[in-house]
Amino acid sequence: MLDNIMRGRRLRRTKVLRRMVRETEVRPQDLIQPYFVAETIGDDEAAPISSMPGQSQLGLKALERKVGEAVAKGLTSCILFGIPKHKDELATQAYDSNGIVQRAVAMLKDNYPDLVVVTDVCLCEFTSHGHCGLVDKHSPHDPVRNDTTVELLARTALSHAEAGADIIAPSDMMDGRVGAIRATLDDVGFEHIPIMSYAVKFASAFYGPFREAAESAPKFGDRKSYQMDAGNFREAMREAEADTLEGADMLMVKPAMPNLDILRSMRERFDLPMAAYQVSGEYSMIMAAAKMGWLDAKATMLESLTCIKRAGADLIISYFTEAFLRAQAE
Ligand code: PBG
Repeated sequence: MLDNIMRGRRLRRTKVLRRMVRETEVRPQDLIQPYFVAETIGDDEAAPISSMPGQSQLGLKALERKVGEAVAKGLTSCILFGIPKHKDELATQAYDSNGIVQRAVAMLKDNYPDLVVVTDVCLCEFTSHGHCGLVDKHSPHDPVRNDTTVELLARTALSHAEAGADIIAPSDMMDGRVGAIRATLDDVGFEHIPIMSYAVKFASAFYGPFREAAESAPKFGDRKSYQMDAGNFREAMREAEADTLEGADMLMVKPAMPNLDILRSMRERFDLPMAAYQVSGEYSMIMAAAKMGWLDAKATMLESLTCIKRAGADLIISYFTEAFLRAQAE
């Protein structure tokens, strides 16, 4: 007979008991589904992304249909990425009022007024070289320019707000962009539009599949002069602090699962709503292992989302959002 021991198993004995003492539950409204809207395919077409089974580039009409189905299953929010027909050095399609993202936002808000439409603000899908900012190859310092890029990011954010976006999410990692976007939006009466800042975004190998999906891989070099080094915790706190002071309404950590320590610390230090991005590589790893029969996709999805939430995320951007909603309906 064991005396005076903690009998944790008492509360794990039945399914109902386990549910009663469960501390963390992922809810449909915690999740944001990313969509890739493409101008390079027919309006009605969906082009499957080979490295992300279950995800596709979608033409405008196909997006409308897909979102409609998801909304019927309880989707509350999505984030949009655009694949333009035309890319150039100045990323002009990023801030064109008739660009693919702007048209997609307007269409979605028209059809699903209650859906919270988030837009990713970055130049990489729109520049011919694939970097997140303007490039000056002759610069003796860093070819990816900061301050001139920030002006274009602010223009992009404004064009999204004008199209009807509900939340602006800058993902470029240029310095000072949150403040600049805030000022630009406020200037013209968009002071009610929140900014969800990709405050702590690492230069991560886990973005690999996304770059196929968004056709946004840099043609030379890498993103290490603007995205963060994976080894840095204190710097992550400085980035979060800076974005808070510049006026961010929500903070984000990305990728999610490799950075749960950072998410937890940010939750403790900052009182803003916290988001985490379960990125393409995190999704693809689970889907690939499931395809091999090595992992159970549904169980792994639920566990990963639960643990990201437990670590401190209020919101999770995840390619599993639609699958989660389907699983809930079962
Ligand atoms: C744009 C952007 C990227 C992701 C989100 N916004 C790619 C990158 O920074 O290279 C990655 C998302 C994912 O991997 O799912 N800058």
